[in-house]
Amino acid sequence: MSQTLREARKYEDEHGRLIPPEARPGFHLSARAGWMNDPNGFGLFDGEYHMFYQYYPYDSHWGPMHWGHAVSRDLLHWEYRPAALAPDMPYDYAGCFSGGALALPDGRHLLMYTGVSREIGADGELRDVQTQNLAFGDGFDYRKYEGNPVLTAADLPAGGSRAHFRDPRLWQAEDGSYRALITNEQLGEGGRLLLYRSEDALHWRFMHTLIENHNRLGLMWECPDFFALDGTHVLLASAQDMLPKDFEYHNGNGTFYMLGDYDAQTERFTPRSDHAADYGIDFYAPQTVLSPDGRRIMIGWMQNWDTCNLHTTPVPWFGQMSLPRELSVKNGVLYQRPIRELEAMRRDGVSYEDVIVENGEIALPGVSGRLVDLELEVEPLGGGYDRFAVRFAQDERYRTGVSFRPHESVLKIDRKFSGSRRAIIHQRRAKVRHENGKLKLRLILDRFSAEVFVNDGEQVMSATLYTDPAAEGISFFADGGVRLGVTAWRLEP
Ligand code: FRU
Repeated sequence: MSQTLREARKYEDEHGRLIPPEARPGFHLSARAGWMNDPNGFGLFDGEYHMFYQYYPYDSHWGPMHWGHAVSRDLLHWEYRPAALAPDMPYDYAGCFSGGALALPDGRHLLMYTGVSREIGADGELRDVQTQNLAFGDGFDYRKYEGNPVLTAADLPAGGSRAHFRDPRLWQAEDGSYRALITNEQLGEGGRLLLYRSEDALHWRFMHTLIENHNRLGLMWECPDFFALDGTHVLLASAQDMLPKDFEYHNGNGTFYMLGDYDAQTERFTPRSDHAADYGIDFYAPQTVLSPDGRRIMIGWMQNWDTCNLHTTPVPWFGQMSLPRELSVKNGVLYQRPIRELEAMRRDGVSYEDVIVENGEIALPGVSGRLVDLELEVEPLGGGYDRFAVRFAQDERYRTGVSFRPHESVLKIDRKFSGSRRAIIHQRRAKVRHENGKLKLRLILDRFSAEVFVNDGEQVMSATLYTDPAAEGISFFADGGVRLGVTAWRLEP
């Protein structure tokens, strides 16, 4: 093991244990110490779910990337394992970027990740060189392959940038051979996704381009995933530098999904539609896993690149994953529901029917807290309503909320009063489906986040918040009149 990895393991062990559990999310995976971004190598190995992540243990800001590591049986309770990879080789000294994992038939755990090194270009500028590399392990320790890198600029089709060639996602095809889907910048055209094939997971060759962006959805694409679900194929990728498109896509980085047809013979993909994967503020670079009982489950990084490096005081950890979400496809939409294992954490349920809120704000006995599962059905009273809101993480000073304006069909998440002192993104809006003001919401609160599932998961809005944990209030507001059904549980990890 290299000195660099040994030091990282020592550091995370010493510093991670200083963080009391109540200073972390209750059931969302957070950095063991320091900084976390993308999920990596998400999959099953040796009877457990393994999650690696982009990691810089020494600071709460992004730095030379390592791979952090954690395992879980239910995707809600996580146990840290020692960091798996450190930037310690000539081909990855500037960082071990995102990638995937495979359980090999011989019992070894294989990681493929992007190694970043640097070169001075003809223009005199310093540029990244990104290559794909392998490491083999046993679920604890990983050894980089002597034959690294296994894919370099020489394996790119024409017009590809060697500075942007990253984030391999791996799977095994039905005939036992392997595939890697890797993103690449096509100069002047934004991202494209390249498909590679291998018989032995060591030797890889380029097959064809699965899809090209041509600057339609943002510029460069990152972190793809690709799988069959409910009779169709789903492509997930995260776009940088997006322009807003009505309320569908927002400025900045965002994750989209495409549904389409995949021809198993030619291995070509024809997309039919695209949508945002999450309409909130914080969600990016998700990966999925197929659970042993056949559920396709997605976890994303619950942050936003434009706001995540602005904290000025160092914090012991920064960066957390989203809830694991069970995916399904219905009526051309990718539905997401909180993983059903979450229900085992429900305690002290309370239920109210026919709660009337008219031109004001009310609270309900037993409905409060910062670790909460809250189901809500809203419907208009006779005269209708102009705006309904559920507010949480609330006290005299603070509140975060979700509000709905039925006449505009717009649902808004707003953390302006969450205690943030930075000029960052505090609000996001989404167009949602409703029947004359009738709407269903499920709100999952953990200490530092809110995830809002709309209409049984037809859309999701996620946001992190760092409000003082003493702000535990939840209230319901209406401009006009609404009738509510409310069921709430405290969540106990
Ligand atoms: C996405 C990303 C990846 C890259 C990693 C670096 O969030 O930019 O493309 O591999 O983060 O940390």
